[in-house]
Amino acid sequence: MSVRNLLFSPSILGGNFSKAKEEAETISQSGADYIHLDVMDGHFVPELTFGAKFIRDLRPETDLVFDVHVMAEKPENMIPSLCDAGAGIVTVHYEATEHIYRCLDLIHENGAEAGVAICPGTPAYAVTSLLEIADYVLVMTVNPGWGGQRFIPSMIEKIEYLDKLREENGYSFRIQADGGIGLDNIGSLYRAGMDIAAIGTSFFRASDKVGFLDEMLESAEGRN
Ligand code: DX5
Ligand code: ZN
Repeated sequence: MSVRNLLFSPSILGGNFSKAKEEAETISQSGADYIHLDVMDGHFVPELTFGAKFIRDLRPETDLVFDVHVMAEKPENMIPSLCDAGAGIVTVHYEATEHIYRCLDLIHENGAEAGVAICPGTPAYAVTSLLEIADYVLVMTVNPGWGGQRFIPSMIEKIEYLDKLREENGYSFRIQADGGIGLDNIGSLYRAGMDIAAIGTSFFRASDKVGFLDEMLESAEGRN
């Protein structure tokens, strides 16, 4: 029996970019809550993916909220265009700007919800002063930049820490975890306080997506 909602944000990075429209439909039909869109700039992380133009073109293809995870240096430069293109949530990396507080303000000013993401090497206490304004904190559970990597178990402690701070201070941010998430670790993440799971490889590997999300929920809630 669940006392807290667990939400899913399948990442299009786990699918085939040449079939982005179909992948977005697949995500919509799976019963997921968001579509996770990984923006990479080739600097903050080595790989390049897409930006505002792709997001704008994909926007009419689904009603799901676009959960845009920005792995780019100086994200302040692209926040207005990402919001204008249809991002509902914009999450930027703590490590990618000297002005993270201003970035979160800028996201709000542009009409989206604001998240801050932390890499595996960044301690959770680094974002303490942002928790009063952040709508989301994204804990990377792999090194950002690629799908299909192995989950780093020690990241679970960061989620517990953030969940505790949230409870003690009455904050309302949601905790997202991202990277290497599947049936083997969803339970520990959920018990630690994760609200949203970004899932790429495990989601796209499953032949029955609806069944997979059901199984993930059951596993999180300790029913199997
Ligand atoms: C990695 C991305 C993730 C990625 C997750 O840098 O931020 O969102 O798509 O993919 P998996 O689930 O394959 O680790
Ligand atoms: Zn991501």
